[in-house]
Amino acid sequence: MERLAICLLIISTSAKAMMCPKRCSCQNVSPSFTILCTKTGLLFVPPTIDRRTAELRLMDNFITTLRRKDFANMTDLIHLTLSRNTISQVMPYAFFDLKGLHALHLDSNRLTFVSEEHFKGLINLRHLILSNNQIHYIAPGSFDDFIDTVEDLDLSYNNLIDIPWETIGRLSSVNTVGLDHNLIEYVPEGIFSNLHKLARLDMTSNKLKKIPPDPLFSRIPVYAKSKGSPLTSLVLSFGGNPLHCNCELMWLRRLTREDDLETCASPPELMGKYFWSIKEEEFVCEPPMITHRTSKLEIMEGKSVSLKCKAVGDPDPYVRWISPDGKLVSNTTRTMSYDNGTLDIFTTRFTDRGNFTCIASNAAGESTANVELVVNQFPNLANSTSYEKEIESGLSDILTPAKSSIPSNETKSLHDRKVVVAELTSSSALIQWPPQSHIPGIRMYQIQYNSSLDDILIYR
Ligand SMILES: *[C@@H]1O[C@H](CO)[C@@H](O)[C@H](O)[C@H]1NC(C)=O
Ligand SMILES: *[C@@H]1O[C@H](CO)[C@@H](O)[C@H](O)[C@H]1NC(C)=O
Ligand SMILES: *[C@@H]1O[C@H](CO)[C@@H](O)[C@H](O)[C@H]1NC(C)=O
Ligand SMILES: *[C@@H]1O[C@H](CO)[C@@H](O)[C@H](O)[C@H]1NC(C)=O
Ligand SMILES: *[C@@H]1O[C@H](CO)[C@@H](O)[C@H](O)[C@H]1NC(C)=O
Ligand SMILES: *[C@@H]1O[C@H](CO)[C@@H](O)[C@H](O)[C@H]1NC(C)=O
Ligand SMILES: *[C@@H]1O[C@H](CO)[C@@H](O)[C@H](O)[C@H]1NC(C)=O
Repeated sequence: MERLAICLLIISTSAKAMMCPKRCSCQNVSPSFTILCTKTGLLFVPPTIDRRTAELRLMDNFITTLRRKDFANMTDLIHLTLSRNTISQVMPYAFFDLKGLHALHLDSNRLTFVSEEHFKGLINLRHLILSNNQIHYIAPGSFDDFIDTVEDLDLSYNNLIDIPWETIGRLSSVNTVGLDHNLIEYVPEGIFSNLHKLARLDMTSNKLKKIPPDPLFSRIPVYAKSKGSPLTSLVLSFGGNPLHCNCELMWLRRLTREDDLETCASPPELMGKYFWSIKEEEFVCEPPMITHRTSKLEIMEGKSVSLKCKAVGDPDPYVRWISPDGKLVSNTTRTMSYDNGTLDIFTTRFTDRGNFTCIASNAAGESTANVELVVNQFPNLANSTSYEKEIESGLSDILTPAKSSIPSNETKSLHDRKVVVAELTSSSALIQWPPQSHIPGIRMYQIQYNSSLDDILIYR
């Protein structure tokens, strides 16, 4: 009570006086306020923080949640440190008022994801430190408010398998990017090409098998360690990745670098060897070789079919198909062309028939093979796309042979009856039709079909 009275007294005597939360130490080095609350057992951000504070350090506490009101109106805040707490939840727009914030340290907490609302409003942010969390997902728009200002982005020691690369590629002022000690499997080609200020890129200890060449890397010298490297160079670290040392990594081997401890994980003959000790000519690729394929396939029109073409090579080849009319087969509702060489056609048409060409390609070349598809047309049903569907009896002459004596006024009601063809294979079919007991005198039905084997009409 006594303390509160003193506080109030100070406030009333000087508008610039500062409230200092319990157990914290506060400095008023005019014109900026600094509040230091380290190892004070805080469970949440103290509500009594002076809104004019410029530097707020709350590390080594037990804060679990950052709420919208915690930093409301703190437009003068420049530096915010929340390292080594237990923060697992950041409410949307928690930092929204921090228009002047330059540095946000959230390392060693329990964040699992970053959403688009988390860092909204941080329009002057330069340093974002998110290392040592459990982040597995970052929404693509999360860094939009400081995409042009951020200089230092640290995402190391998290659980990232993938990151929004397109966002990384737009960080135009970025100088340091830490992506090390994650589970990243893939880096897209050319993603760093516009990061002209990039000086340090750490991708150590991830799951990268390859690192694509990037225009940035050929423009400026790249080194393994900052020690002794020229100022205008890029320090690129990628040790501790399961590198696949084939011709695709030749560009990296050719860079001017001091020795570092990167090793190759494959191919078998280079496993465990030091990257920089392997001769350039040992970084080889193998052109694709087609090992298995369907040579000829015969199918009934309307059925689904899988054409297969399996290829080996280094790097793993991908397979594309050319249809008999010379067009590249794309993914449609009726066709699916997988990279592994399988082409699925879900409802074959008679016009699909002919020779398909599969093309297996990789960095070292390509290889092609022919697969012949024979599509057998179903007699009298040339117009239908799916034979499992019902066929109007009036369209088929199966039920209305020329010599039939059905009275003409029966035609309409006959139209309502259906003939169904089911369980279709290349050599058998089940044909069902409703009984015609209302027509007097029917003793038998006649089925007429045209066999593709002998081209003869057969009556049964
Ligand atoms: C922030 O400022 C608004 C308007 O001045 C005021 O209503 C609100 O109570 C302030 N919030 C805090 C947490 O100081
Ligand atoms: C078709 O889709 C599959 C699976 O989504 C994909 O792997 C394949 O690359 C696609 N093929 C083409 C030709 O785009
Ligand atoms: C290729 O991939 C597709 C879809 O993943 C799969 O259905 C098919 O069996 C695969 N083919 C081969 C030859 O592995
Ligand atoms: C497909 O190719 C084979 C030989 O490769 C040829 O005998 C056959 O006539 C071709 N089929 C068609 C429909 O062009
Ligand atoms: C197929 O349908 C078209 C129009 O729908 C028609 O002109 C053609 O005669 C039909 N062909 C057969 C064999 O029924
Ligand atoms: C069809 O014609 C017969 C006699 O020709 C007649 O008895 C019957 O009522 C007619 N049926 C219909 C549906 O018109
Ligand atoms: C039987 O089918 C073949 C091929 O579809 C055709 O050329 C032939 O004219 C048909 N025969 C009759 C009698 O419809």
